[in-house]
Amino acid sequence: METVLRELTARDAREMADIHAQSFAPPYGTGGWPALEMATHTQKDTCCGVDVEGQLAAFIIISVAADQAEILTIATVIAARRTGLAREILRLSTAPLITRGVVDLFLEVAEDNAAAIALYRSTGFIPMGRRPAYYRRAGGRVAALTLSKKLSP
Ligand SMILES: CC(C)(COP(=O)(O)OP(=O)(O)OC[C@H]1O[C@@H](n2cnc3c(N)ncnc32)[C@H](O)[C@@H]1OP(=O)(O)O)[C@@H](O)C(=O)NCCC(=O)NCCS
Repeated sequence: METVLRELTARDAREMADIHAQSFAPPYGTGGWPALEMATHTQKDTCCGVDVEGQLAAFIIISVAADQAEILTIATVIAARRTGLAREILRLSTAPLITRGVVDLFLEVAEDNAAAIALYRSTGFIPMGRRPAYYRRAGGRVAALTLSKKLSP
């Protein structure tokens, strides 16, 4: 089935927040970002998503500044995981950045987030650094890994 990416607007903020809440509930985080914050991101960042059966199933938020871009978050609804949605969203949302002049793509990921790290490594991101005790967890803190990828035409 073809994956169709669409630009998200403030009208999608509630669904984005719902997916984020289930994605970053304890023990994987301390909760997601609220709908108001999602709405703000739709106004200032690149926010794209994929619908499955009429409902938002996965989305990405990318902050672009000159020739650098940072993936602020990416999440897939639990019921649709491991069906290739995140990989497709990454591919489809980052390709147009090249024509906007972006050359470096960055992100931070919690060191205990094996699924996300596997996704990024399989899509060409390489480790750059490590920030100890960066993310809060119910039982303490976990380091962030910083990863990057060069975008080339
Ligand atoms: C990480 C996340 C976005 C992956 O979304 P997804 O749509 O399930 O990912 P995909 O189906 O596109 O998987 C692509 C590849 O990523 C890797 N991957 C994804 N989930 C994985 C898992 N649970 N375990 C191991 N590898 C995994 C695999 O290499 C996979 O390819 P394969 O299925 O051909 O082996 C999803 O698990 C999620 O929403 N997690 C919670 C939010 C989050 O942690 N976001 C990242 C913040 S930095």
